[in-house]
Order: sequence, then structure tokens, then C-alpha cells
Amino acid sequence: MKAIVVRQWCEPRDLVMEEVDRPVPTAGQVGIRIQSAALNFPDVLMAAGKYQVKPPLPFTPGFEVAGTIDSLGAGVTGFTPGQRVLAQLSLGGFAEFAVAPAPATQAIPAGMSDDQAAAFPLVYQTSYVGLVVRGALKQGETVLVHSAAGGVGLAAVQIARALGAGRIIGTAGSDHKLELIRQQGADIAINYQTEDFVEVVKRETDGRGADVIYDPVGGEIGQRSTKCIAFEGRLLIVGFTGGAFSNFVSNHILLKNYSVVGVHWGSYQKHRPATIAQAWKALWEMYRAGQLRPVVGRRYPMPQVADAMELLTSRAAVGKIVLHW
Ligand SMILES: NC(=O)c1ccc[n+]([C@@H]2O[C@H](COP(=O)([O-])OP(=O)(O)OC[C@H]3O[C@@H](n4cnc5c(N)ncnc54)[C@H](OP(=O)(O)O)[C@@H]3O)[C@@H](O)[C@H]2O)c1
Repeated sequence: MKAIVVRQWCEPRDLVMEEVDRPVPTAGQVGIRIQSAALNFPDVLMAAGKYQVKPPLPFTPGFEVAGTIDSLGAGVTGFTPGQRVLAQLSLGGFAEFAVAPAPATQAIPAGMSDDQAAAFPLVYQTSYVGLVVRGALKQGETVLVHSAAGGVGLAAVQIARALGAGRIIGTAGSDHKLELIRQQGADIAINYQTEDFVEVVKRETDGRGADVIYDPVGGEIGQRSTKCIAFEGRLLIVGFTGGAFSNFVSNHILLKNYSVVGVHWGSYQKHRPATIAQAWKALWEMYRAGQLRPVVGRRYPMPQVADAMELLTSRAAVGKIVLHW
């Protein structure tokens, strides 16, 4: 089968498509013929050897796919060959076939396209676990979502709206993303490159600040967020697309009574898989109620993976980028 292969830590242009052995599902796994695979920021970091997880070389990146069941490993029940499924993978999604653990595989509801299905698992799971499990978001609370037109950001806006958040404020790095953020459920959208988001949040909350702040950017953005966080607020550390970590000052955390909360969705697979199963149940309910709609901003044929990755890192993309066969 054809697959994108990382032979050495590399930039997107150095990725190659090769003929490799087709994976065979072992006990408890399903084999999937992939139609669409969604791109995530960590794919770029992983290929460059800059992600916290460094797989042994060579490897095929890709964390989430949609397609049809091709074969079943021993002991798998509840799936049938030919059935449309989406799956979360630890690696291997940018290929014609992949194997996934059965518990990480979900049937695709009627009416959901392969592109939308591939774009669904990681960002909605992460944002649900972030807002609900780690952030304890309550109805009526103000939520500030940074990079709100991006993958995890848009999912966070839609989930916060579905959960009955009060005011939702989204930031983005350019004006052309602001209308989309409002369309997807935010009350206010601001360009954090040209406007001071701290002032906007204070103004819009009568000085109280945001109860939950969702931060996939890090660096200065995370640090400055502590200036507009409410009493007993929760600052969710989701990622570092800005390329730097934030430094937090402990006496400020104490004096303002807020929490800085790490969100690492992947750890739930190891430590508390029941949380992921519960998140799936809640996400599908929201999806069926029409509250969640994956936004596919751009799709590319699989051989153009470098173009797709460069669009993601250029900051011009909105929603999810999908690769298709
Ligand atoms: N913690 C977890 O479990 C978990 C799970 C999934 C993803 N993540 C993390 O969440 C972050 C977002 O992932 P994603 O896949 O959803 O990507 P994404 O948000 O769609 O990433 C692209 C966006 O990042 C923003 N960005 C800010 N500073 C940037 C910079 N210096 N260079 C490039 N882009 C920059 C840009 O939007 P603006 O300019 O509009 O801000 C850009 O459009 C990543 O750090 C990822 O590792 C964490």
C-alpha cells in the first residue's frame, strides 16, 4: 500500500510517499481502508522530531482517519466489513490502510461525510475533556478561546455553546477568521494581533474576567491571559502553537485564586479510558442535536501532504485540513 513515511526528522517538503507493507489487524484491532485523514499540528511537530512523543524511525504520521472496515482482528465484535468508521490512531493515518484498536473506532453516523468524520475525533475529544473534565465549565460561565478558528479552538467554541456557556469570546490571528468564529457560536471575535484581548475580556465582563480560558497557543498569550481571568477561573493549557511555553507566577495564582490546568487528552487513553468513552457518548449526543459541525477548511490529495502542513503552519488555515485518497 502507499503511505507517507518519515525516514528522518524532517520538514514537510522532505516527506515521501512509499510502498510499504499493509498492516494486519491483530486481536482486538480493526483494519480500515482509509478515505480521509485529518491533519493536526502535532503531525508537523512529530515529523520534525519536535513533539513530546518521538516514534522510532521510520514511521507514518496521522492520528485520525475515516473509511471502511476492511478486516477484523480476533475477538472484535460490533463491527462488520464494509461498515463506515472513524478511528483515532497513535500513528499511521497517512496511508491507504491502517489498524486501530476497536475501542478507538466509532461508527460514522449517516449524513456525516468522510472528511467531517476524519476531522472529528481528536479536536472534539480534546476540547470536551478540556472544558468539561479539566475545566469544570458551568452553564452561564464566560469562556475565552484562543486561536478559535483553528482545529481545537473551533471545537471548543461549539462545545462551550452546546454546554450552555454564557459569553464566549474567541481570538484569532487575522481578521478573515473572525466571521467564522462568530458563525460557530462565539458572541465576540477579536484579532489578538491587533486588539488587546485582555482589555476586551475585562470590558465585556464588567471587569470580572473569563471563568474558563482555553489556550492552544502558549507563550505570551497564555501569560497575558492571567490578567483577564476571573476569581476561581481555570486557565486550560492545551498546546503551544506559538512555539513557546508560558511562565506563570505562583503568587499571582494564589492572590487571584485561579487554577492553571494541564490538558493532555492522550493520557486519558492510558489512565482513564472510561472518560474517553463518556466523552464519545456526550459528543455524539451533541452532534445528533446539530450542535457540533466539524469545519473542514481545506482538503488536499494525500500526495500533497507538504502543502497541507505548510498551510497549517502558515496560520492561514481555518478549521481542519483533510487529506484524501
Ligand atoms: N493537549 C492535547 O491533548 C492536545 C490535543 C490536540 C492538539 N493539541 C495542541 O493544540 C494546538 C492546536 O492544534 P490544532 O491541530 O488544533 O491546530 P490549529 O489550532 O488549527 O493550529 C493552527 C493555528 O495555530 C495558530 N497559531 C498561533 N501562533 C502560531 C504560530 N506561531 N505559528 C503557527 N500557528 C500559530 C494559528 O491561528 P491564529 O493565528 O488564528 O491564532 C494557526 O492557524 C497544538 O499545539 C496541538 O499540539 C493538544
